[in-house]
Amino acid sequence: MAGQNCRVTVVLLGGLLLLAVLLMRGAEASEIALPQGSNITILIKRGTSAPPAKPCFIIVSKRHMTVLFIKAGEKMVFTFSCQDPQNHFVMEIQKNIDCMSGPCPFGEVQLQPATSTLPTLNRTFIWDVKAHKRIGLELQFSLPRLRQIGPGESCADGVTHSISGRIDATVVRIGIFCSNGTVSRIKMQEGVKMALHLPWFHPRNVSGFSIANRSSIKRLCIIESVFEGEGSATLMSANYPEGFPEDELMTWQFVVPAHLRASVTFLTFNVSNCEKKEERVEYYIPGSTTNPEVFKLEDKQPGNMAGNFNLSLQGCDQDAQNPGILRLQFQVLVQHPQNESNKTYIVDLSQERTMSITIEPRPVKQSRRFVPGCFVCLESRTCSDNVTLTPGSKHKISFLCDDLTRLWLNAEKTISCTDHRYCHRKSYQLQVPSDLLQLPVQLHDFSWKLLVPKDRLSLVLVPKQKLQQHTHEKVCNTSFSYLVATHLATPGQELYYGSFCPGPGGSIEQIQVKQNSSVTLRTFAPGFQQEFYKQGLTVSFTPHFKEDGIFTVTPDTKNKVYLRTPNWERGLPALSSLSWNISVPHDQVACLTFFKERIGVVCQTGWALMIIQEQRSQPEEIFNLEEVMLPKPSFHYHNFWVNISNCSPVSGKQLDLLFWVTLTPKTLDLTAIIITVVAGGALLLLALGLIICFVKRKKKKNKGPAVGIYNGNANTQVPRQLKKFHKGRKDNDSHVYAVIDDTMVYGHLLQDSNGSFLQPEVDTYRPFQGPTGDCPPSPPPICSRTPTAKLTTEELPPCISPESESEPYTFSHPNKVEVGNGDTDIPLLDTQEPVKPAE
Ligand SMILES: *[C@@H]1O[C@H](CO)[C@@H](O)[C@H](O)[C@H]1NC(C)=O
Ligand SMILES: *[C@@H]1O[C@H](CO)[C@@H](O)[C@H](O)[C@H]1NC(C)=O
Ligand SMILES: *[C@@H]1O[C@H](CO)[C@@H](O)[C@H](O)[C@H]1NC(C)=O
Ligand SMILES: *[C@@H]1O[C@H](CO)[C@@H](O)[C@H](O)[C@H]1NC(C)=O
Ligand SMILES: *[C@@H]1O[C@H](CO)[C@@H](O)[C@H](O)[C@H]1NC(C)=O
Ligand SMILES: *[C@@H]1O[C@H](CO)[C@@H](O)[C@H](O)[C@H]1NC(C)=O
Ligand SMILES: *[C@@H]1O[C@H](CO)[C@@H](O)[C@H](O)[C@H]1NC(C)=O
Ligand SMILES: *[C@@H]1O[C@H](CO)[C@@H](O)[C@H](O)[C@H]1NC(C)=O
Ligand SMILES: *[C@@H]1O[C@H](CO)[C@@H](O)[C@H](O)[C@H]1NC(C)=O
Ligand SMILES: *[C@@H]1O[C@H](CO)[C@@H](O)[C@H](O)[C@H]1NC(C)=O
Ligand SMILES: *[C@@H]1O[C@H](CO)[C@@H](O)[C@H](O)[C@H]1NC(C)=O
Ligand SMILES: *[C@@H]1O[C@H](CO)[C@@H](O)[C@H](O)[C@H]1NC(C)=O
Repeated sequence: MAGQNCRVTVVLLGGLLLLAVLLMRGAEASEIALPQGSNITILIKRGTSAPPAKPCFIIVSKRHMTVLFIKAGEKMVFTFSCQDPQNHFVMEIQKNIDCMSGPCPFGEVQLQPATSTLPTLNRTFIWDVKAHKRIGLELQFSLPRLRQIGPGESCADGVTHSISGRIDATVVRIGIFCSNGTVSRIKMQEGVKMALHLPWFHPRNVSGFSIANRSSIKRLCIIESVFEGEGSATLMSANYPEGFPEDELMTWQFVVPAHLRASVTFLTFNVSNCEKKEERVEYYIPGSTTNPEVFKLEDKQPGNMAGNFNLSLQGCDQDAQNPGILRLQFQVLVQHPQNESNKTYIVDLSQERTMSITIEPRPVKQSRRFVPGCFVCLESRTCSDNVTLTPGSKHKISFLCDDLTRLWLNAEKTISCTDHRYCHRKSYQLQVPSDLLQLPVQLHDFSWKLLVPKDRLSLVLVPKQKLQQHTHEKVCNTSFSYLVATHLATPGQELYYGSFCPGPGGSIEQIQVKQNSSVTLRTFAPGFQQEFYKQGLTVSFTPHFKEDGIFTVTPDTKNKVYLRTPNWERGLPALSSLSWNISVPHDQVACLTFFKERIGVVCQTGWALMIIQEQRSQPEEIFNLEEVMLPKPSFHYHNFWVNISNCSPVSGKQLDLLFWVTLTPKTLDLTAIIITVVAGGALLLLALGLIICFVKRKKKKNKGPAVGIYNGNANTQVPRQLKKFHKGRKDNDSHVYAVIDDTMVYGHLLQDSNGSFLQPEVDTYRPFQGPTGDCPPSPPPICSRTPTAKLTTEELPPCISPESESEPYTFSHPNKVEVGNGDTDIPLLDTQEPVKPAE
């Protein structure tokens, strides 16, 4: 208690002492001498505050005055009649700087005369700089920077800066500012008037600013604010709360640290009645592709901007009768971004040599509507909307984004083999590293580029869980799929094997691809985190094989297996060849059904062929896809091959095939039925068919095309004759298959930017509704059942045999024709005339 009292006493004593000194000085005579040519004048006059009961006068040579004016070159000695002149009088020290008639004195501005020589009155130092219209004048404020105050507000320390400019003869008030804020520079044109008000008790003895000349700013003024950390600034249009000068332009620039975000809010505004042009605000926002961003004053203003930006207010030509007023008071709030903002994530790629990660904006429809920035920051320093994390280092990232679903993550990793001797049979796991999932942005694509030496090695992909091919008939409903593709030598040409997902109905056990390929794990829904465990694919290098792709399929007994040729309706690339090795369990029978009756492929050169062959020394069935109907549903009791090789099709007439396989238990009943019921009919049909075949063959002799075939299975020999069907499915219109695109295919899985799921555009696609379940149907016609040319085939051709490269193909080629752009791997041959089908 005693200590406290003591302190109070000391403070009181100090105060009294100060007061005494000041009072003494007040009573002292003051002497002011203004040098000749200094262009300074001083005016001492009554203050605006209510005059006290007892009047006070300025005494000059015993004369009592209420106003004292001192011009440059004059010397004045005066006293006050009262002890407290600071309560009665104020002084204005004005310096006129004329840059029109001579050089302008730029640089640090001094307080002249020095404050210590002046009587202790409220002082207002006024600098009135007149400059040419073309000259820009810049006021630079050293720390502390300025804070603009609105009408009715005052500064805590009583120090104010009143800044005004002029347009021709009219004075325009830019604003009144206190000493603790963000405004660092004010650029004006055509002169500036700065009034620094210092209350009598304020010890400040420096002006705190300098003047520089700049080139024309082409507008009323530019006010720059610098934020060094979190904070806010309230700023007003010129003349606020009165109207902004007609048809003028004013700009505010903001310097904001990259790791902070700025948001603009309009606190009050009014718009005038425009006759010409429109009143608006324009922003230059970092990262915006549509700068300047133009807003109406009524609009919600941008937020979450990272980095420096500027904002301009543009007036209009007002209606002379009823101008109205344009005015604006707004706030800029700079803060750490909310939500994910100050969280840092470590992405360690220091052990990686070929993996890079890109975090980039999801593509959105371009629109003029402003969307706030969404940024990724490295080390919380440099922020960008598109960041690539390079292998070999550890990255510390954070996010400045109001909505992280606007970003996604793409990663790429290269697995290459340069020396086939070294990597032969080597295998790698294709697995998304789990630490990518800790990031708050959705993984979009994880792509593995698999590179092998040309003609040396090929690739085998073995999934952890059997894969299902995504088709319209059976869509993948997993959160992710594997997209397998090869970029062909011809530029722009791609062999897109398809989209495959692991799932309960999966049937594809392995995919073999001939050459350099990419496997992309693409996620479609945010649920990938939950299905993360389902991923897993092993890639191994194997000896080179000739086919572009081989699918090993083990159908599930409960599920129909849909399989579609690569590239879908874009068509199988020219001269490519694909095989499906379909297993049939010994107690099951497989039914192979084709979706369409006709392919519609038209060959420019070469032949589009399909070979169906049971792997137990059964003869091949060969179909010229260009001409014949596809086979009716057929039964297979043993593992079988479906092999498709394309010709060089004419554009628009592509090879695109969809088929499915179902398994049914092989029961005695079924066999019995087939034997008993069908046998008789079959015999009859055989006889009939033979007759018709014979007749047709005779008729059409020498008219059939030369047929070439390439079958990548080394052990499958080439036919001398092809079979054709033309018995179509009854329901000719049972399918409508329109053009689809990727968006549509995955439509059901895609999310739009609002986070809601897009509906697939199903209107262009009508699924097959025909009699698909009607197998087993009546046995196919004799002509198709019995190949016209039986071929000797070895048992179960091995899928990839290392020797396949060197093993010779057996071809019969009576009239060899060179087709296929010199691709000698694809021999062509004439065969005997195909037999016209009979019915
Ligand atoms: C005062 O003004 C005159 C003319 O305007 C100019 O020539 C002179 O340099 C000025 N003096 C100072 C000290 O600025
Ligand atoms: C001097 O300035 C202070 C603070 O700005 C103000 O409150 C006071 O009224 C002024 N005195 C006179 C006489 O105007
Ligand atoms: C600085 O400005 C804030 C308002 O932004 C005010 O509350 C505070 O009192 C000011 N400090 C001084 C010392 O003027
Ligand atoms: C202003 O005052 C400080 C001390 O308060 C002094 O060091 C400085 O020299 C003065 N500056 C001028 C220009 O009078
Ligand atoms: C500033 O003034 C000087 C001399 O007064 C002149 O030489 C210079 O060009 C001016 N700079 C600008 C940017 O106007
Ligand atoms: C300014 O706008 C406000 C609404 O934002 C309105 O209430 C006010 O009357 C307007 N003032 C003038 C002078 O037009
Ligand atoms: C506003 O920002 C843009 C982009 O940074 C810049 O080109 C332009 O000169 C700035 N305008 C003003 C008046 O500062
Ligand atoms: C975080 O983001 C959500 C939606 O993205 C929003 O509703 C919430 O207000 C945000 N929280 C903060 C503190 O900004
Ligand atoms: C993030 O910001 C919140 C509040 O803005 C604060 O409580 C928290 O400590 C910050 N976290 C870090 C890691 O800086
Ligand atoms: C992001 O940057 C990468 C690499 O520079 C570029 O390939 C990609 O197109 C960019 N993404 C966007 C959305 O601009
Ligand atoms: C596959 O990529 C490797 C490395 O880029 C290249 O050397 C090779 O020729 C490519 N193979 C083919 C068939 O283009
Ligand atoms: C996906 O399909 C399987 C069977 O086809 C079903 O069991 C599962 O519930 C489906 N999942 C979703 C998310 O629709």
